[in-house]
Amino acid sequence: MQNLAQTLTAQAVNASLADLLLTLADTSKAISQAVRHGALAGVLGATEQENVQGETQKKLDVITNDMLKDALKAAGNVRGIASEEEDYVVEADKDGEYLVCFDPLDGSSNIDINSLVGTIFSVLPAPQGELTEQSFLQKGRNQVAAGYVLYGPSTMMALTTGNGTQFYTLDPKTGEFLLTEEKVAITPDTGEFAINMSNQRFWEAPMQTYIADLVLGKIGPRERAFNMRWIAAMVGDVHRVLCRGGIFTYPTDNKNPNKPFKLRLMYEANPMALLVEQAGGKASTGYETILDIEPQEIHQRVAVILGSANEVDVCLSYHDQDYAGEPEVE
Ligand code: F6P
Ligand code: MN
Repeated sequence: MQNLAQTLTAQAVNASLADLLLTLADTSKAISQAVRHGALAGVLGATEQENVQGETQKKLDVITNDMLKDALKAAGNVRGIASEEEDYVVEADKDGEYLVCFDPLDGSSNIDINSLVGTIFSVLPAPQGELTEQSFLQKGRNQVAAGYVLYGPSTMMALTTGNGTQFYTLDPKTGEFLLTEEKVAITPDTGEFAINMSNQRFWEAPMQTYIADLVLGKIGPRERAFNMRWIAAMVGDVHRVLCRGGIFTYPTDNKNPNKPFKLRLMYEANPMALLVEQAGGKASTGYETILDIEPQEIHQRVAVILGSANEVDVCLSYHDQDYAGEPEVE
């Protein structure tokens, strides 16, 4: 089996980008160790700090953010970083060619229950000149690489450098990421959906009707049964979609009128959208292709509908129609 370095060479990925991806892979191995030790290492539980988005930071959010930040600052080829856990962009190497956006530990509400978590990353080219937030505000289409590392029963990396999506599995004996799936392909049709149903009354009318039709199963307009799954970690739900198809959505809702979307564009939606498109799937907000969004700020949130191409199309067709009625406001 080929290791990560060998596959990057085989794909003719430029040497500097390959180095950066190997740095990310090495750091994720260390994160995997920290996560695995759990309560033994005293890393579970919350800190007293909040991040810029008003969420209480878990100890592991802070630890993993620092691990990635330190490694990327030392890498030499990174101009700057943007993280879910950093209020502002962080400057790294003056001559760095790349910008890295990351969610150091996605699904952190799963930490204390020993459930799935992962690291999501997105690599963009660094523009010339001074580093500002503006340097990062590039469409997801500009990503030169994107991926995640899932700290599950086995540690796996999903990666794309624009040559399809690959899966690697960390060999616990050698500490190497080995290529275990070369051409990930999402089935175009599916019988599985992922959404937080408890928000149902807050969704827009098209999403309410779409999900209601799935739940009706054989007696509804879809005339077949659908199953539901929700891991509460995007990284886990998207991994399932890449493995066996499905539709994953965190749609627009009006639960909190100041926060109509939950997932972050730069370090959640964009990298996942690239992985999904590279595996033959689709990713949209319901009205716009995720990778074509012009970002306005690094912590911007966005509605996400992604997965099996035909099922995403069905969901989008509901958004094309004119629905009467609005979701309930609380
Ligand atoms: O990062 C945000 C996130 O934790 C995602 O990983 C996950 O898909 C979602 O939020 C879970 O949301 P909820 O708490 O509504 O289930
Ligand atoms: Mn996250």
